Amino acid sequence: MFNPYFLVTFLYVGLAVLGALDASLTHFQIVPVIAGLRWMRVHFITLGALTEFAFGILPIVVAARVNVPRPQTRWDIWLTLNLGLLILLLGIPMVSGVLITAGGTLVFIAVILLMQQLGQMRSAQAEAQPSSGKKFYITGLAYLLLGIIIGTGLWQGWSTWLQIKVPIEVHIHANNWGFMSLVFAGLLIDLYPSFAGRSLQWPKSINRIYWMMTIGALGLVLGPWVQSNVFAVPGLILHLSATIWLVINVAKPLMGDRSAWTAGIWHIVTSYVWILAPVLVAPLIILKVPGFPGAGIEQNAPQALIYGWVLQFGYAIIPLLFRRVFTPDQQPKLGGNWFSLIAVHIGAMFLWVGIFANDSQATLHGIAYALWFASMLPIAYELWQIVRSGMNRLEQPVSLPATE
Ligand code: HEM
Repeated sequence: MFNPYFLVTFLYVGLAVLGALDASLTHFQIVPVIAGLRWMRVHFITLGALTEFAFGILPIVVAARVNVPRPQTRWDIWLTLNLGLLILLLGIPMVSGVLITAGGTLVFIAVILLMQQLGQMRSAQAEAQPSSGKKFYITGLAYLLLGIIIGTGLWQGWSTWLQIKVPIEVHIHANNWGFMSLVFAGLLIDLYPSFAGRSLQWPKSINRIYWMMTIGALGLVLGPWVQSNVFAVPGLILHLSATIWLVINVAKPLMGDRSAWTAGIWHIVTSYVWILAPVLVAPLIILKVPGFPGAGIEQNAPQALIYGWVLQFGYAIIPLLFRRVFTPDQQPKLGGNWFSLIAVHIGAMFLWVGIFANDSQATLHGIAYALWFASMLPIAYELWQIVRSGMNRLEQPVSLPATE
């Protein structure tokens, strides 16, 4: 079935590839810095590729899990989301309050409509399996709503009347630890049996993981909101423990089965390393250890998180689900290859080393973005091939029955 979200996802993956190339060239001072591109680089990936992708896939995954027919494309939601994104792409570089508010509001409405659509999908048959991922998705989207409100108001002073102490961190935490973490966890839980051919190590742990992540994310949002570690530290511990528990759930059943460790599985499991990196250095920032580049970390760590974790998770999962939709008769297969795996990790290492090596920072960061750019190429090509074969099938002439 044609899925318009996936075409737009593909378009933004293309833009993300160009964005990483531009970042590399600006670090090497080959091209000048263009206003607004920093925002776009991160949001091509987070909003353009992954949020768009989530809108396309969540109704399909939930419908399959609760055993109801695959829903028709809701064009009203698609239009609202994409108009909102386009208006933001115009409004943010211009720092136009009216456009940013209009874009943010449209994306906000699209998220509410999607939550409503998912919420209404209930099984008519008593024996049908409940969707384990569904509550992860709906809660994740609720965190996205919060992230949108704060993101939309970031340059408009909304945080003053919301009494937010460190608004950018609240925005990042709501979106990463709330939205992305929960949606990714739900997708892993729902899709693991199909791509790994076995069940998670401890299926009964799912409910606990859900609560630990949900409450953990709340602590991580409240922490920078009121600027207090009383919320942030327990939130971090809860969230991180749940994440580690989830990753062990995924990795343990594959132990000892070498053929199961494809590049795609490595992408998924090792992407979580880049969540740990900022967490490991966080205590040193909090304690303000002398000589430790706290400001550099705060400025650059989000990029490493987005490319190392969010994007890399997408490398494996997006092609899997593209195949499921565009070429449903083929075997489910995660995306990525050994080159994309190695390049994305070395890129993240260069970014982190660059934070500490002040003198050669520009060069090291230039290399990091060049490696990320290179790592995206095989994925973009893989997606292109899937989309092309899916579209070719759609375009095949339908043989009409003879009139006489
Ligand atoms: C309507 C939706 C959104 C709006 C209006 C928005 C707005 C913004 C703004 C204004 C900034 C500050 C940029 C800067 O200081 O240079 C920002 C930063 C950021 N946002 Fe968003 N955002 C949205 C959605 C998201 C989502 C869904 C995610 C992740 C899942 C996300 C992740 C980030 C990150 C990681 C940064 C920090 C980027 C950096 O340090 O370079 N945002 N956002």
